[in-house]
Amino acid sequence: MIDPWSSSIVDYEKLKKQFGIKPFTDCMEEIKNPHPLMSRGIIFGHRNYQQIVNAIKEGKNYAVVTGMMPSGKMHIGHKMIVDQLIWYQKNGAEIYIPIADMEAYSARGVDFETSRELAISEYITNYIALGLNFEKKNLHIYLQSENKIVIDLAYKLARKVNLSEMKAIYGFLTSTNLAHLYAPLIQVADILHPQLGECDGPEPTVVPVGPDQDPHIRLTRDIAERFKSQFNFITPSSTYHRFITGLTGGKMSSSKPKTAIFLSDPPEVAAKKIKTAKTGGRESLGEQREMGGIPEDCVVYETLLYHLMPSDYKLNELYYECKEGIIMCGECKQKASGMMRDFFQVLSKKREKAKHTAENILSKE
Ligand code: TRP
Ligand code: SF4
Repeated sequence: MIDPWSSSIVDYEKLKKQFGIKPFTDCMEEIKNPHPLMSRGIIFGHRNYQQIVNAIKEGKNYAVVTGMMPSGKMHIGHKMIVDQLIWYQKNGAEIYIPIADMEAYSARGVDFETSRELAISEYITNYIALGLNFEKKNLHIYLQSENKIVIDLAYKLARKVNLSEMKAIYGFLTSTNLAHLYAPLIQVADILHPQLGECDGPEPTVVPVGPDQDPHIRLTRDIAERFKSQFNFITPSSTYHRFITGLTGGKMSSSKPKTAIFLSDPPEVAAKKIKTAKTGGRESLGEQREMGGIPEDCVVYETLLYHLMPSDYKLNELYYECKEGIIMCGECKQKASGMMRDFFQVLSKKREKAKHTAENILSKE
């Protein structure tokens, strides 16, 4: 059983075997300009992504839904979701971004006013700074608690879900409060509401998420089937990306500041943090020259792979130099740290500019 609200690390292979998530490589050939997160294998799995590939190819309408719980500061791991949204925005999707304030309230005890403030000062500000275009009509962002269509749909859908089913998917939830037990239904409605007639649906929909969210996806797909005749739902697709490793080697988590590089960190701080990261280097320089490093176990390499090194050529070169013991961790960290500083310098300027715009986004819809 996967608990979407705990921070345990997920076994990607088991996910594929046990839960029927398919390898993303299946779809790669047909995607014209894949996002680096796709071509680099960071997006590793999917459920029925073929219908999205087809929609993109044929220029048909399709929707992308993915949200975040405003429960803390955003770290660079969260950037992955935004990067994907930007790619989909460029590739013709209708974009829906729920801000999960109801979930934050029920699962984390965050009150609604705090969620709203965090949504503006952190989430929307970062979304704009990272490059999402809020001026385009194809982007819809909302607080769950303010979206009557979503709240009403959740209630209607709950009519065909019973407690033993919830127990089978989220066993642990039956000892928690009822608001938390209901939160997944709101998420199901987040995902399915673009398909309602009033939102110009039905249309194929994809939900790009981390694998911890898969229980919600399975529930959504089951519910979509049950309501097919009533709402004409098309069962949604999903993709799954690997989580970024925290600086100390475990999961990167906002609630453990030592593990995370926050998007609001000043450039100097971010640059310094990457120097403290766990590497795949050997005990001694001699050993490393002889045996080479292990980029697969290196947070510095991972950061370059996920975020900082757009050139595949340069990345491959570094991989080779590391493996062959040509480059040592000190020098490598120095380089990565410089790239980090550059990236954060640009980002912090953009964040400054975005702050003002961010304040007006939620009142618009
Ligand atoms: N549960 C997600 C999280 O914890 C947030 C979320 C809410 C979401 N609604 C969604 C994600 C719809 C994908 C699609 O971050
Ligand atoms: Fe990581 Fe660079 Fe050291 Fe290789 S040389 S293990 S990529 S820090």
